[in-house]
Amino acid sequence: MKRVAILISGSGSNMVALARSMTGDHPARPVLVLSNRPGAGGLARAEAMGIPTAVVDHRPHGKDRAAFEAALDAALDAARPDIICLAGFMRILTPEFTRRWQGRMLNIHPSLLPKYRGLDTHARALAAGDTEHGCTVHEVTAELDDGPILGRARVPVEPGDTPETLADRVLAMEHLLYPAVLRRFAEGDRTPVLLG
Ligand code: GAR
Repeated sequence: MKRVAILISGSGSNMVALARSMTGDHPARPVLVLSNRPGAGGLARAEAMGIPTAVVDHRPHGKDRAAFEAALDAALDAARPDIICLAGFMRILTPEFTRRWQGRMLNIHPSLLPKYRGLDTHARALAAGDTEHGCTVHEVTAELDDGPILGRARVPVEPGDTPETLADRVLAMEHLLYPAVLRRFAEGDRTPVLLG
């Protein structure tokens, strides 16, 4: 059985989708949900599902990313994960950290990468007049929102969409895509999952 740690910063809806998927004959199980924000809504949701939680607050470390990541590593090492899933984890990680977990760490990003790395992806897709948008799961490497693509899901941009309506449509696909990719990845298969 593969051990999965899920890193969050917010409501954790992707974390819930991942955790719910890891039952039955699934080759992985959630062993830790970790947040850098003590108030993240996803922590209570993880606790309600009986998953161990941890908080590694970034704020006491200020600009010292190495100190924050040393604390992160300590919490992760204690849980002995085989796979780390970033699920709305809104901290930029250093190359040292990503190198350490490379090949074992996944991220979901709300755009069709390589388009729109970084923030405000839905507003940027609308501003560009795109007719389709979506989400991508990729292996985490040292470059932000880069690395081998493990899955993508497309959604149409509808007339009258706002960043919020578009985000909702993409998020619904994230909840299908990320569990599908994790299952395949945990089985040792890196063939991209393509949805939509
Ligand atoms: C998701 O849309 C995820 O793709 C995005 O944050 C949201 C988290 O929602 N991640 C990023 O923007 C990473 N740069 P959730 O907490 O409900 O899963």
